[in-house]
Amino acid sequence: MSILLGVDIGTSGTKTLAINEKGEILAEANAKYPSQHPRPLWSEQDPEDWWKAVVKTVRSVVRQLKAKPADVKAIGLSGQMHGSVFLDKQHRVIRPALLWNDQRTAAECEEIERRAGGRKKLIKMVANPALTGFTAPKILWLRNHEPRHFDQTVAVLLPKDDVRRRLTGELATDVSDASGTLLLDIRKRDWSAPLLSKLELDRSLFPQCYESEDITGNLTKQAAKQLGLSTDCLVVGGAGDCAANGVGTGIVKSGILSTSIGTSGIMFVHSDAVEIDPAGRLHTFCHAVRGKWHMMGVSLTGGGALDWFVRTLCADIGQSKNTADAFTVLNQEAAAIPPGAEGLFFLPYLAGERTPHADPHARGCFIGLTLKHTRGHMARAIMEGVAFAMRDSLAIIREMGVPVRQIRVSGGGSKSPLWRQIQADVFGQKAITINAEQGPAYGVALLAAVGAGEFKNIEQACAKTIYPVEKRSVVRSAKNYYDRAFPLYQDLYQSLKNDFGKIAELG
Ligand code: XUL
Repeated sequence: MSILLGVDIGTSGTKTLAINEKGEILAEANAKYPSQHPRPLWSEQDPEDWWKAVVKTVRSVVRQLKAKPADVKAIGLSGQMHGSVFLDKQHRVIRPALLWNDQRTAAECEEIERRAGGRKKLIKMVANPALTGFTAPKILWLRNHEPRHFDQTVAVLLPKDDVRRRLTGELATDVSDASGTLLLDIRKRDWSAPLLSKLELDRSLFPQCYESEDITGNLTKQAAKQLGLSTDCLVVGGAGDCAANGVGTGIVKSGILSTSIGTSGIMFVHSDAVEIDPAGRLHTFCHAVRGKWHMMGVSLTGGGALDWFVRTLCADIGQSKNTADAFTVLNQEAAAIPPGAEGLFFLPYLAGERTPHADPHARGCFIGLTLKHTRGHMARAIMEGVAFAMRDSLAIIREMGVPVRQIRVSGGGSKSPLWRQIQADVFGQKAITINAEQGPAYGVALLAAVGAGEFKNIEQACAKTIYPVEKRSVVRSAKNYYDRAFPLYQDLYQSLKNDFGKIAELG
């Protein structure tokens, strides 16, 4: 028997998924952990929490399956991208990791562009502009603000790669996750020597880059014992969670786009060649498919906006055992409200925004509130606002002439039938749901299966395991409304942009 594990070290928790050699899901386990926000705009986590969650969830699936250690052939790792784990000489973690949604590095982004000789030259070297969420500005922040810590640092790892270090003892990464550091030459699929030199960062700080299905090592004795697995168990390169979700939703050839509403909101397309948005609004990264790339737009707050709404304003719903949970109630209330929430708009920039504004100071807003508006209107406006933010990315993808013949909707938010319908109507294209619901964890479990020799390549693995199960058609009247409302949604940010900056200056 072959068991392959996909482990996704996400922002709110870790999910471990076990599949068999046919890609059928056998078991799943989840463990949550907190983020720390020591200051506004800061976002950190303790890498030790990731490790504990990985041990707990792997042990749980092994227990559920009553698996023998030797049954588990390979592990694929996926993780929140761009986070930075700083290691000292003994490979101990120096300080909490800075995360993808941390916005403290605006000055370092300017420094990177200046050192690179300008934004255009930077995009030429690494295909993307400097954005606060990326890893490179975090490293410069450490050098500028915590020089003692920087001097101790001998290695910088991405979140899932710190887990890999504890699994295999190896310092390694994969090309898709490495792309999000802003230090990878995505054409060569290796670190950019010219940029490293301009930033005065030593190449030795960064681990070796692998393709996502390549084997990066075996479990150490200690890790095997802790997890209840064998030292023969392989660990493949894996992928950043966006590329992993791309694989897990079958986006391994051109023409198909996936949306993913998790904490963030992602629009993701495969690309056979390197295509770059000259304005730098879309990211172009290496894909988890050997020798291929992908483009994506990232809305920093997707499902996280509804989560925030529930936590802050709806804490009383779903408290008693007999009532439906808050999300179910809000979905019912929002479904009873007409498209457009009777003139209520929501800008979902609760953590600043990446695509298309690259503005760490952007803020979340409800605009257009009246006495008539209810909680259901607000929930609907949030879902629509997130879909509008994602349509901003889709508009750029279409403008670049990238073919989008099919839209596959995924992520926790897309479990809501209402949010799936809103996506179809806001994007003006059918929303397809696929059988595979496990996103990144499934994607890397498939990569592990390829690494273990169960499939010829990842394209074959996806073709054999992933297929559509639901098609939601566009409701014409809703689409027409959204087409009229979308330019207004776009104008609202432009009207408020300077004020967001002034709010930030107020401190
Ligand atoms: C992608 C991004 C987020 C994180 C969180 O660029 O920042 O999707 O990977 O999961």
